[in-house]
Amino acid sequence: MKNFKLIIALVTLTSIISCNDKRTPQLQYMPDMYVSIPYNPNGAEGLNGNPVNSEPVAGTIARGGHPAYDIADTNEGYELAKTSLTNPLEATEENLANGKAMYEIYCASCHGKKGDGNGVLSQREKFSGIPNYKDRDINAGSIYHVIMHGKNLMGSHASQITYAERWQIVQYVEVLRLDLAK
Ligand code: HEC
Repeated sequence: MKNFKLIIALVTLTSIISCNDKRTPQLQYMPDMYVSIPYNPNGAEGLNGNPVNSEPVAGTIARGGHPAYDIADTNEGYELAKTSLTNPLEATEENLANGKAMYEIYCASCHGKKGDGNGVLSQREKFSGIPNYKDRDINAGSIYHVIMHGKNLMGSHASQITYAERWQIVQYVEVLRLDLAK
């Protein structure tokens, strides 16, 4: 009889526990493991329960938040890029400085620091036909297009540099070209 009462008590207790709303457990040992912390794609974190501002800061471009590049790698595509694309970034000192830094990493080995076509790889005759920027009829759109698709011996740099970095490099190449033409 004693055992029987114990069994009844246990069954009752078990059913009370299991009827609890699972989403609001009485005791949470480590709440993070039950309720996930929402991921904010913009990387900003809400502090002390303040709402997270998910709007990008004016004048900036969220990583990945830009339209896909769908201009074809053809002569027509080149001309289309040249006549239709404009740099979405403002010509600020910061953009230009980052453009210079990125240019010196990804482009100067062939094109030279000044853009005269005299980079290390050119000097060592690894690559021939690297132009002096001032000898090419190029603009922001065509430079962007060539970064995306490459041109003849020059390969695409699309996967190595972000959207904003490409346009920063474009700004810097235009500045180099103007300096070379002086
Ligand atoms: C491996 C060497 C190499 C690297 C690195 C390289 N280029 Fe080039 N680039 C070339 C060669 C070669 C050409 C000439 C292509 C042609 O017209 O046949 C060229 C041509 C160009 C042109 C002229 C294209 C036109 O429309 O006439 C631009 C602009 C240019 N490169 C920009 C860049 C930028 C910006 C980078 C860095 C993101 C870069 N290149 C990296 C080799 C390179």
